[in-house]
Amino acid sequence: QFGTLIFYIVYFVKEVELYFETPVSAEKSLVWGPGLVAELTLPVRYFYIQAVSAAGQNFTRSPPGTVHFKVGIKALSPKEVIGIHIPNLMDRNDGSFLIQYRMYGSVNKGLKIEVLYGNEHVAQSPYILKGPVYHEYCECPEEDSQTWQNILSCPSQEPQVTKDFSSFPIINLQQMLHEVPARFGQTGGAIVHYTVLNNHIYRRSLGKYTDFKMFSDEMLLSLARKVHLPDVEFYLNVGDWPMEHRTANHTPGPIPIISWCGSVDSRDVVLPTYDITHSTLETLRGVTNDLLSIQGNTGPFWHNKTERAFFRGRDSREERLQLVQLSKENPELLDAGITGYFFFRDKEKELGKAQLMGFFDFFKYKYQVNVDGTVAAYRFPYLMLGDSLVLKQTSQYYEHFYSGLKPWKHYVPIKRSLDDLLEKIKWAKVSVVTNKVKRALNVTCIFQKYAKHQASQPEIRDGMELVPQPDDNTSICNCHRKKPLREDL
Ligand SMILES: *[C@@H]1O[C@H](CO)[C@@H](O)[C@H](O)[C@H]1NC(C)=O
Ligand SMILES: *[C@@H]1O[C@H](CO)[C@@H](O)[C@H](O)[C@H]1NC(C)=O
Ligand SMILES: *[C@@H]1O[C@H](CO)[C@@H](O)[C@H](O)[C@H]1NC(C)=O
Repeated sequence: QFGTLIFYIVYFVKEVELYFETPVSAEKSLVWGPGLVAELTLPVRYFYIQAVSAAGQNFTRSPPGTVHFKVGIKALSPKEVIGIHIPNLMDRNDGSFLIQYRMYGSVNKGLKIEVLYGNEHVAQSPYILKGPVYHEYCECPEEDSQTWQNILSCPSQEPQVTKDFSSFPIINLQQMLHEVPARFGQTGGAIVHYTVLNNHIYRRSLGKYTDFKMFSDEMLLSLARKVHLPDVEFYLNVGDWPMEHRTANHTPGPIPIISWCGSVDSRDVVLPTYDITHSTLETLRGVTNDLLSIQGNTGPFWHNKTERAFFRGRDSREERLQLVQLSKENPELLDAGITGYFFFRDKEKELGKAQLMGFFDFFKYKYQVNVDGTVAAYRFPYLMLGDSLVLKQTSQYYEHFYSGLKPWKHYVPIKRSLDDLLEKIKWAKVSVVTNKVKRALNVTCIFQKYAKHQASQPEIRDGMELVPQPDDNTSICNCHRKKPLREDL
């Protein structure tokens, strides 16, 4: 009798647990992402897990209980030993998890990825990535342009790219060779002239302020290790401001300068910013914020975030000072501070200097104010990935992905003068808007488009030097696409 009673109590407790804690179904949970595709060499590979219940319902919060998802990644063949860095899973606080891994070597046979929930395999785990699987520094470009276009899935129509190139049905390389140095390459210039030929990268600097070419070099070298780039000759503006202000009505017409920031009154072709490409390449390697890790560090749940708008930044534009003034007058709505003075040093006494704050801590606040710096504020894509609501100053400047964003859907627009900011914060406090970030556009797809518009073959011009691939032991790998150099040995 007593035994039966114990049985019932245990049974009852189990039932209650089941009732309150719907269990995760390892089988029904979902696993997807580019990190499960062998051919997609990314600096850091990543994929997602979505927890799903036995009844087939997605969890919308982290599943309760002590059982966790675990991921193990190793070379398929025990003979191949490489380092793989797998940080802890990132809980995205919505029932899904982000897994990242960085390979410190390439494998020929393949990779085995096990995704477990407790001791059970999740979805189709184990995932076998049939080799070769290359790491970031392996120089092994895909030669066939159709294959890599499919892998990268270049969209046939991307509104920003279509718009940017509409001014340049024909790119006249000879004309640019004559014009660009004189118009933009003076002492104050920040133009780097690149030629990519046979997947080798050559360049020369036009002007004095071209140190940021280290970012464009890094990006081009990384791409060239993965795909055979189209032959292109182009001029990259590594300075802040867009440059080409001629319109189609001018004679001669505008020329396609490539820039990181566009504006409504210029014709520059926009690339993803150096900030985005650099942090993507350096993911998991240092201190920079990157688009992936933000997804796992979006702060408290919405209800637990501080009910105020937030801003920290340098004094690079006057409106930022106004913002601090507004914040002093309305501390219940806005917490804004300048963290460094450079342009308006005389204002420091009056407005004070705010302490630097870790970027992830921004997301302790419900609303983020995005105000331009010297040009577009390059933090915008990062702000968009946190699960705060972004209040964005209207601006003539834009980055490559803005055309995919809609005001009132992805962010709340505020006037350039900030006149309506307080009103908008109040509006936001009673509205629910979902933040969605537009996927970044592939740089290679833009160069491919550029190449098609060129009127003549790119050339290696006077004064250009080769930008070499790194040649150290981190780059050792066995590329199956390369023929042995000396077959007689
Ligand atoms: C469950 O989540 C996955 C991944 O986010 C999504 O694709 C799917 O549509 C969701 N299913 C339901 C029923 O909401
Ligand atoms: C390239 O862009 C397309 C759409 O713009 C996207 O679906 C795809 O995932 C991107 N590929 C990479 C490797 O980023
Ligand atoms: C919100 O904060 C409260 C009290 O600080 C805490 O008990 C609760 O778990 C938090 N809620 C979430 C969903 O994190």
